[in-house]
Amino acid sequence: MSVNHENCRTLLITSCKGGIGKSTVAANLGATLAAMGKRVLLIDCDFGSRCLDLILGCENEIVYDMGDVIADRGQAEKAIFHLPGTDNLLFCAAPAAMTEVGKEELADTIGALIEAAKPDFAILDTAGGLSIPLLLPPTLIDTAIIVASHQPVSMRAAEKTATLLSANGIAELKLVVNSFDFASAKDGRRAGILEMIDRSHVPLLGIVPHDEALLHAQERGVKITELTNALSAPAFSNIAKRLTGEQVPIFRGLRYYHRRNAYL
Ligand SMILES: Nc1ncnc2c1ncn2[C@@H]1O[C@H](COP(=O)(O)OP(=O)(O)OP(=O)(O)O)[C@@H](O)[C@H]1O
Ligand SMILES: [Mg+2]
Repeated sequence: MSVNHENCRTLLITSCKGGIGKSTVAANLGATLAAMGKRVLLIDCDFGSRCLDLILGCENEIVYDMGDVIADRGQAEKAIFHLPGTDNLLFCAAPAAMTEVGKEELADTIGALIEAAKPDFAILDTAGGLSIPLLLPPTLIDTAIIVASHQPVSMRAAEKTATLLSANGIAELKLVVNSFDFASAKDGRRAGILEMIDRSHVPLLGIVPHDEALLHAQERGVKITELTNALSAPAFSNIAKRLTGEQVPIFRGLRYYHRRNAYL
């Protein structure tokens, strides 16, 4: 099946490393773009440990999932869940049962979901490690957003991920540094922004501060759309705006920001 997604920008949220905030970034970026009036389809492509339904607080409401669409592309519309309380945030959960899927089959399934939802943005959350979504074709993926946390091992993974994605023909790669610790960058205990860009060789799209509210929200099942006052909210807003072509300073609105040079 050829994918007709010319009006949809598909973002692959990825890193070879697990546990560094891919799902958190995918969900919050999706909610932020939707709040800006964009129609967003979030797709959980982490078949091993699906979790976006939990982060989005809709785990008890999902009836159909990607497994149904893999079995029958005609089920795409049914597998798209409209998040309550939002106008334009749509979601497709990963299969509830473990499912083996090849890259062509996955691309077809995602294509069917995009055709059915007609979003402005499709955001694909992926598993850590060398998973199948890293091999999705450049005809489907417009931008790969590589997430790295503020640690050396994560930066090395970002570099490796960028190499793999480039070899696969994905032209646009962007870096999001998550859980950025302003204090340790300032006193030199951890890398500054320039060093992180230098190590990963990927242009920076944004910085998300370490934010306990994100952690607690996930643990307490607080809906993502209710996190508008969180410390990290301006960071996601900056990233979303940059994706829509606005020029926004990297630290705009971040509460820790005092003097730009301190964190470089
Ligand atoms: N900016 C942040 N500030 C504080 N905690 C965060 C931040 N980003 C993510 N976390 C927390 O880190 C943990 C891992 O995040 P998340 O599940 O998004 O990572 P992941 O890369 O998707 O993991 P996996 O590889 O297992 O899918 C979660 O408990 C999440 O709440
Ligand atoms: Mg995840």
